[in-house]
Amino acid sequence: MKTIIEIITENVKEAFVQKGYEEKYAIVTVSNRPDLCQYQCNGALAAAKQYKTAPIKIAQEIVEHLQSSGMFKEVAAIMPGFINITLSDEFLADFINQLKSDERYGVGREQNPEKIMIDYGGPNIAKPLHVGHLRSAIIGESIKRILKYFGNQVTGDAHLGDWGTQMGLIILELKRRKPDLVYFDDNYQGEYPKEAPFTITELEEIYPAASEYSKEHPEFREEAKQVTYQLQNGHRGYTAIWNHMMEVSVTDVKRLYDALDVSFDLWKKESDVQPYIPEMVQYFKDNNYAYISEGALVVDVKEETDTREIPPCMILKSDGAALYPSTDLATIIERMKLFHPDHIIYVTDKRQELHFETVFRCARKTKLVEENTKLTHIGYGTMNGKDGKPFKTREGGVMRLDNLIKGVNDEVYKKIMESNRMDEEEAKVIAPQIGLAAIKYGDLSNQISKDYVFDVDRFTSFEGDTGPYILYTIVRIKSILAKYAELGRKAEDTRILPAASPAEEQLMLQLTKYNEMLTSAYEELAPHRICAYIYDLANVFNGFYHDTKIIAEEDVRKQSSWISLITLVQDILLTCIDLLGFKAPERM
Ligand code: ARG
Repeated sequence: MKTIIEIITENVKEAFVQKGYEEKYAIVTVSNRPDLCQYQCNGALAAAKQYKTAPIKIAQEIVEHLQSSGMFKEVAAIMPGFINITLSDEFLADFINQLKSDERYGVGREQNPEKIMIDYGGPNIAKPLHVGHLRSAIIGESIKRILKYFGNQVTGDAHLGDWGTQMGLIILELKRRKPDLVYFDDNYQGEYPKEAPFTITELEEIYPAASEYSKEHPEFREEAKQVTYQLQNGHRGYTAIWNHMMEVSVTDVKRLYDALDVSFDLWKKESDVQPYIPEMVQYFKDNNYAYISEGALVVDVKEETDTREIPPCMILKSDGAALYPSTDLATIIERMKLFHPDHIIYVTDKRQELHFETVFRCARKTKLVEENTKLTHIGYGTMNGKDGKPFKTREGGVMRLDNLIKGVNDEVYKKIMESNRMDEEEAKVIAPQIGLAAIKYGDLSNQISKDYVFDVDRFTSFEGDTGPYILYTIVRIKSILAKYAELGRKAEDTRILPAASPAEEQLMLQLTKYNEMLTSAYEELAPHRICAYIYDLANVFNGFYHDTKIIAEEDVRKQSSWISLITLVQDILLTCIDLLGFKAPERM
C-alpha cells in the first residue's frame, strides 16, 4: 500500500506536468505549520528559477489544477509561492479504512528478502551479564523482529564468549581454593562428578577475585595462561570443569534472557569455531594474505582511501595463541559454511567498531565471504548513570543485570502500590511486565549509537516519553473496548467515518504516517523511530480520548466508528511494541 505522502505527491506531480513543469518539483512534505495546513509543497519556488516566472504564479496554476480533485479540502497558493494542502475529510477517512482492512496496516514487505544472521548476545561464560550485554540484547532482539516482520529469514545467534584467558584464571583460582578436587589430580582416571563443584553465585565471585589476584601476582597470571593453553588442548580435568562452567553459566544466562523476552535460535560458542583456525591460518599464509610482523601473524587491511590509520588484522599472537579477530574470522567461515547468509549483523558496543572494521576488511580481502555478502556492525553507545558516567552500582562496582532488572521492577511495584491501582498479588505479576517495557523503551527510544542516561525514576514514570506510558495508553483502549463489549455491541469491522473533531483528525493524521514510519525504521534499522512514533500516537490518542465521550455516545453509528478507529490504534500500538520486544498487560 502506498504512503499518504506518495499518493499526494502523485497528484501534485500530475499537476506540475499538466501545467508544463518538470515533475521533480512536486515534493510534498508534512506541513511545518500544522495550524495552517496538513501538507505543503515548496516546489514552485525552485521551479520559478528554471522557468523564470514568479513562484506565486506557478503555485496558483498548480493549486487551480489540484482544486478540481475531490481529494483536497483546501489547497492554497501563499506568498511568495508556497502551496498549502489539506486533505478532504472523506479522503482521510478512506485512507484510514484502507489501513484498517490491510492485515499489515499498509506496510509492505521486502522485495528481495535476505537470509540474515544476527549476532547480538556475546555473554561471557562465568562472568555475570552486565549492563553492556543488556544493550546488545535489547537492540538486537528488536532489530531481529523488525527484519523478520519485513519477510527476511533471520537467525539470531547468542555467540557465547567461552574462549578467553578468563577460563584459565577461573580454573586456577578454583584450584587455589579447593586443591583437593579430583579435577586437579593428574593421576585420576575415573569419571568426573556430575554435579558442578560450584554454584552460579560462587562462579561469579571467582572470576573477579581471580582477576584481582592476577594483577598483583604475575606468576599466577602466567600459570593461568598455561592452564588456558592446556584446556584448549584437551586437558581432561580442566575440560570437565569447563563443562561444569558452561552448564551452570548457560542456565543462568538463559534465565536472564528469558526475563528480558530475548530469544536466540542458535547458541553457538567461540570455542565451536576454534577447529577452523589452523586451516584458516594455513590458507592465509599460502595465499600470501598474512605475514609476520613483530612476531605476530597479521593481515594488512589498509586501503588507499582511508582517512585514518587502520591497523592490520591480528591473526595470531607471537606465542601462537588465537585472538578475538581470529575467532570472529573463523566464525564467519563457519557461518558461511553452515548457513550461507546474505548478510551478517553484529550488535555490540561501539568501542568495538575498529575490531569489526578490520575483521570485515580481512574477510573480504581473503575472500572468506562472497562479494555481495553484507557485513554490518551496529555499534551502540554507553549506558550512563545519572552522573553521566558509565552505569555502576551505588558502591561503584559493575552493575549486574539481575540487580538492575530487580531495581526497576521494585520501583514499578512501588508506583503501582502508591496509586492504589490493584492489590499486592496482581501488582507482583504486572510489575515485571511494566518494568521490562520501562527498560526496553528507555533504551530503544534513543538513537542506537548515542550514549544515554539510565534513569530508573524517569523510565518507570507512567507519564511522558516512557514505556509505561505507552502501555498505559494501550490498557486504556483495552478497557474502553471491554466496556463497549459489555454493552453487547460489535464494531470491529465498522467503516470509520470522517473525523468529527480536530482531535479525531489529529489522530487520523498520525495513523496515516504509520506505514511510512515503519518502512524507514526497517531501512535504517532504527527502533527509535518506532518509539517516537508511538509516543506521538499515544499523545494524540489521549487527546482524542479526553475530547470524546465514546461510551456515553448515543449515536450508534458514530460510536461504532470510534470503536473501530481506536481498535486500529490499539492494533498498531501492539504491533509496534511487539517489534520493540515487550508486551502489554491486561490491566495496570
Ligand atoms: N563476548 C564479547 C564481549 O563481551 C562480545 C561478542 C560480540 N560478538 C562477536 N561476534 N564478536 O565483549
